[in-house]
Amino acid sequence: MKIELQRALSDEDLLQYPCDCLVVGIAAEEGGASQTLLTSIDQASDGLLARLRSERELPRKAGQTLLLHAVAGVAARRLLLVGLQDVGTDDAIRFQKAARAAAAAIMGSRAVSIAWMVGNTSDRLMLSVLALQEADYRCDHYRKVEENPLERTACLFTATDDVSTQRRVAEAVAIAHGVALARDLGNAPANVCTPTYLGDAAKALAQHSACEVEVLGREEIGKLGMGAFLAVARGSAEPPQLIVVNYRGGQDGSAPIALVGKGVTFDSGGISIKPAEAMDEMKYDMGGAASVLGALHACVELKLPINVVGVIAACENMPGGNALKPGDVIRSLSGKTIEVLNTDAEGRLILCDALTYVQQRFSPALTIDLATLTGACVVALGNVHSGLYANDDTLATQLMAAGTKVGDRAWRMPLDDDYQEQLKSSIADVANLGGRTGGSITAACFLSRFVEGKWAHMDIAGTAWKGGANKGGTGRPVSLLAQFLVDAAAPV
Ligand code: BES
Ligand code: MN
Ligand code: ZN
Repeated sequence: MKIELQRALSDEDLLQYPCDCLVVGIAAEEGGASQTLLTSIDQASDGLLARLRSERELPRKAGQTLLLHAVAGVAARRLLLVGLQDVGTDDAIRFQKAARAAAAAIMGSRAVSIAWMVGNTSDRLMLSVLALQEADYRCDHYRKVEENPLERTACLFTATDDVSTQRRVAEAVAIAHGVALARDLGNAPANVCTPTYLGDAAKALAQHSACEVEVLGREEIGKLGMGAFLAVARGSAEPPQLIVVNYRGGQDGSAPIALVGKGVTFDSGGISIKPAEAMDEMKYDMGGAASVLGALHACVELKLPINVVGVIAACENMPGGNALKPGDVIRSLSGKTIEVLNTDAEGRLILCDALTYVQQRFSPALTIDLATLTGACVVALGNVHSGLYANDDTLATQLMAAGTKVGDRAWRMPLDDDYQEQLKSSIADVANLGGRTGGSITAACFLSRFVEGKWAHMDIAGTAWKGGANKGGTGRPVSLLAQFLVDAAAPV
């Protein structure tokens, strides 16, 4: 979808504005910008809106919409009314709900040219663009396509079209592109999206001059001493890839922000094999890697004046004659040994080496890792919040704030030392399993053993994709990450 920005027209001009769909919010406050437009529409249509109101047919709350055709006095072919009455000025989440409902109603119609009058604060512009692009997303690469999708254009009407408004829309568009990239990668089946495919997706970012991409294979990963990463990859015929994206938009010598992603392109569980039910969904186990690439994509598109390094550990977790076995003791890049009690707890094994690697090589200012790490996190937080762990309160607050702003929510989880007890091993420095309770927390505690300095970990097992009949990648938490990078580039 094409996104355009236009200064608001007078109500009269809007009534005359030729397009397929005029989208107007119905807010609570009397006399607001859309209120006078609604009054004009009502007058032009001989009291249609008043009639609908008295019949209680007008949408009121976030999520309610009403699509009208051929409204008298309105040049637009359709009028889409959007309930906003329960949406407070700073209520990003309810606004997101309203914007998503409006976007879905548009996609359910044949409307191609859209005039979007809903919300013109900087945050609402962002949420509008994200909702529109999210609804417009399709994944048709794996079907025989019968019909070409409609090429839509949404024109956002704002009170001002000054430089900062234009910039905000550019940010929104770039973030939406990053989200779509992550969704594409997530949706790609594991026979297409192999570790090598992720490496190629990263290399595509290197077309931009400030971006360097290196991809290391099995032998080089072994030579580096990444024994834990290599151990997981051993059961698969697909070669593992260590993907390093070095984006240098900032000053030379300024320490980068490091993003580290779990890129398990298929997680069968390995020798501790998973049950068959819904195992297909384990193609999404590279959601962390996808979100690193999505955030970097936005960063590159916006030419953010910061340094960011992305490191992705990509491999398959498969059973095989050569595979890692329960009880094996392996040596990580950090030198710490790990007793593998369950080969299905593989994400932490590849991540611990990636974390050590990024710290040794880049001494980052801070590190954020992203991983579809535990089913326990899905049990704890469902599909609403990503689990957020951090050893630094400021970093946690900044990430949560970025997420709230763009409607990509995270919930902070504890990292108390008491949980570390569960990772004791009778033979090695640490076990890769913490027992039945607190599974997302003990996984985070495992990772914490391999980091120094400011660090956050996001367990995105519940948010990176949605399951069921309409299963698919969500592109989360690309918008949270990208907004965090945008904020880091322009400290307030
Ligand atoms: N990729 C899974 C986590 C996962 C499970 C994500 C279900 C989404 C839905 C991860 O590698 C895994 O298998 N974790 C195990 C850890 C356990 C063996 C300690 C889990 O959560 O069951
Ligand atoms: Mn697993
Ligand atoms: Zn996994």
